[in-house]
Amino acid sequence: MYDAAARERMREDVRSGLSRPQKEIPPVYFYDERGSELFEEITRQPEYYLTETERRLLRRHMPAWTREIGTRALVELGAGNADKTRVILDAMVESGTGELYVPVDVSADFLEATVARLAGEYPTLAVRAAVADMTRPVEIRVPLPEPAIFALLGSTLGNFEEHAAVELLSRVARKMRPGDRLLLGVDLRKEAARIQAAYNDAAGVTALFNRNVLRVMNRELGADFAPDSFVHHAFYDPTEGRIEMHLVSDRAQTVHVPGAGSFSFEKGETIRTEISAKYDRAGVEGLFSTADLSLSRWAEDEDGLYAIVLAISREPG
Ligand code: TRP
Repeated sequence: MYDAAARERMREDVRSGLSRPQKEIPPVYFYDERGSELFEEITRQPEYYLTETERRLLRRHMPAWTREIGTRALVELGAGNADKTRVILDAMVESGTGELYVPVDVSADFLEATVARLAGEYPTLAVRAAVADMTRPVEIRVPLPEPAIFALLGSTLGNFEEHAAVELLSRVARKMRPGDRLLLGVDLRKEAARIQAAYNDAAGVTALFNRNVLRVMNRELGADFAPDSFVHHAFYDPTEGRIEMHLVSDRAQTVHVPGAGSFSFEKGETIRTEISAKYDRAGVEGLFSTADLSLSRWAEDEDGLYAIVLAISREPG
């Protein structure tokens, strides 16, 4: 649920987003409780190779990486249901160094359930959740033992425009102490059909997820979107190396958002709801260097679908 201040921010984001030539709604609003559940369902679709591939990579590499680092704390940005996190927490417990897990997420309800579950499963770890939008400064209210891992998994970095991705990485880099690491999960560039299928699952879950953002607007802002008049459309742009996800208006119509304005759509006009950039190693290294990070480990699966990456913060200079 959103409080009054969050709802005002949403209203302003929607006002400015729907006033652009390419209408937009920021993806952070996908994740109400229903949206978080639908996203979980996306990760179980056979076409969505990202989650399973990332999990396998974490299983293969985190025990050794965690031991090498001597990881005492894990801060996870965009924790969601923290399913993949177990692999890291297990490694921290097994290495005997783990003390603290800090999940950070925008979905308070989801986070609460996650904390309750994990605290029971990991009696030797302290769990301290932080409800926060990672696109804004995140405050962690407990002392963070060093070394800590700051994790940004699930190809979440790709959901930011390049300047925003660099800004997010820089913000994390500034929080990092010499022993800390950033752990990043990134989806790799590959054959367009494979990527496109992942965002157009045959069961239509991604389409439901995409349209759910309009229901969030209706409920939270009193908007009058007719969700069924918007069609899910996701395509891969190989030049940009990214997926764009849109909602296409199937008719000419005007939508009213109280306090934000009226927005008219031509038939076929779209709202862009998400981008998902795909990377190669050079691209990741480029982002790191702009954000004062430096790559220390890179591991990808045998088919080159996905990579997990470690970085350390380096002195700006
Ligand atoms: N981080 C995920 C990704 O880029 C988010 C995601 C997957 C997503 N499928 C989606 C976001 C569909 C919105 C809609 O792959």
